[in-house]
Amino acid sequence: MKFTAELVHKCSRQLSSCCSNIINSQVRSCHTQAAPTIPPCSFTPPPYKGPSLDEMKEARKTRLTPALFTFYEEPLIIHTGHQQYLYDDDNKRYLDLFGGIVTVSVGHCHPKVVEKMQRQAGRLWHTSNIYLNPTIHDYSKALTDTLPGDLKVAYIVNSGSEANDLALLMARLHTQRFDVVTMRNSYHGASPYTMGLTGSGKSKFPLANGFGVTHTMNPDPYRGPWGGYRDSPVQSLRAGEATLEEGGTVCSSSRKYLQQFQETLDYCVPQGKPAAFFAESIQGVGATVQYPLGFIKMAFEMVRDRGGLCVSDEVQTGFGRTGEHFWGFEGHGVIPDIVTMAKGMGNGYPLAAVVTTPTIAQTMAKAFHFNTYGGNALGSAVGLAVLETMLEDNVQEVSRDVGTKFILGFGKLRDEFDSIGDVRGKGLMIGVEMVESQGCHTPMSLARFSAIWENCRIMGILLGKGGFHGNVFRIKPPMCINQADVTFALEVFRVALTTDRELHCKQQ
Ligand SMILES: Cc1ncc(COP(=O)(O)O)c(C=O)c1O
Repeated sequence: MKFTAELVHKCSRQLSSCCSNIINSQVRSCHTQAAPTIPPCSFTPPPYKGPSLDEMKEARKTRLTPALFTFYEEPLIIHTGHQQYLYDDDNKRYLDLFGGIVTVSVGHCHPKVVEKMQRQAGRLWHTSNIYLNPTIHDYSKALTDTLPGDLKVAYIVNSGSEANDLALLMARLHTQRFDVVTMRNSYHGASPYTMGLTGSGKSKFPLANGFGVTHTMNPDPYRGPWGGYRDSPVQSLRAGEATLEEGGTVCSSSRKYLQQFQETLDYCVPQGKPAAFFAESIQGVGATVQYPLGFIKMAFEMVRDRGGLCVSDEVQTGFGRTGEHFWGFEGHGVIPDIVTMAKGMGNGYPLAAVVTTPTIAQTMAKAFHFNTYGGNALGSAVGLAVLETMLEDNVQEVSRDVGTKFILGFGKLRDEFDSIGDVRGKGLMIGVEMVESQGCHTPMSLARFSAIWENCRIMGILLGKGGFHGNVFRIKPPMCINQADVTFALEVFRVALTTDRELHCKQQ
């Protein structure tokens, strides 16, 4: 037999699938329940013919930045996507519950988007905005039509970091002020400017960043000092430490956090007058942290009273993901001055935008401001196709209906498993925070958390993870998943959590 690279690759995959079987049999041996079956799908992916796992690992090591990391003990080769499913090099099908980090909105390779993208690709990709082309105009109109109030001027860019960079520049120019406030545990990007906006030391390099940025206390109803009620079908186990006021629209803990916010403005910002306050409508990378009811509205009012602008970072929460509304900020009953968006906007195509009012937009006309790729013909055609598909496929309703059932299902698991500390979120933006036990809130150990995560993968679901302590499952799938997928995912979770409980009990 000839020992080809392909053969070595196949053997190593078989070995790893054999290891998987051992873990799988551990999963099964711990209880009588069989591993759940993934819902049927008639799509047949093509066979994988690319480089081996070892070749890819080598290329990563030597040809790509060492900052790149992969999920899972044995990195997954994913070569085909179809709707809510992904296929590995053995064509094993996975339910994708992370959507390329909250990016795949209407589904992998959605046929309507693919068709429109291919049509545009065969006609014109790019000219830069030095000529008129209908795509950017059609798209900017359709996009800004989805936004309320005076939010009618769009700057199309290529990434969420770029959008927040531009929003910061605009806010500073418009107010003629420099200082901005963001929240601890926020994530607004990784460019030098936005690294400063981001409120997590784990995302910062040790060099000057965040000049003029102050991070205020994070109003977290689960980990913060005052508990609180949030806008979710499942409340934190600490909700009752606070009370509801004003017909249930304001949580008493919001007032305590607001006091902290006021002190941040008073003590850290020149004359207490910020250029802007940046807030995600629900914290994404920070692991689906929702603020207590009424906080954002009161904070926006306080900033505006001091002449500052309010910026909503909708990079994760936009485009129907929160279910109840198309934009996450609408759930807080506010209209921001500037909105930034990306991720789901292009369904995986690099596309982002800043939308603001005509008055604020005028500040950008004071100097030469240019973005080579921003709003190129191909990107705009993709953006328009994605937006039209979102509306046609009712992704917002899918998020609301399927997402709510999903969250409630996790809520029931929290009643059953002491290892689930918190279940939160809205629509298809869900966080499940794992702890050593509900009584102590200590983040679950990495070893336990990873075992659950790996077991879920083996049983066919791909999950995100995050949060400052790395102990939160992040569930933000393409907004085309259905009830059968939810039932399957919850069953997989139950099996993985049961295994964890049995192993954990044995060790104690
Ligand atoms: C809320 C939020 N804002 C901004 C960004 C930065 O986007 P990008 O990675 O496209 O630069 C992210 C990325 O995860 C994000 O989640």
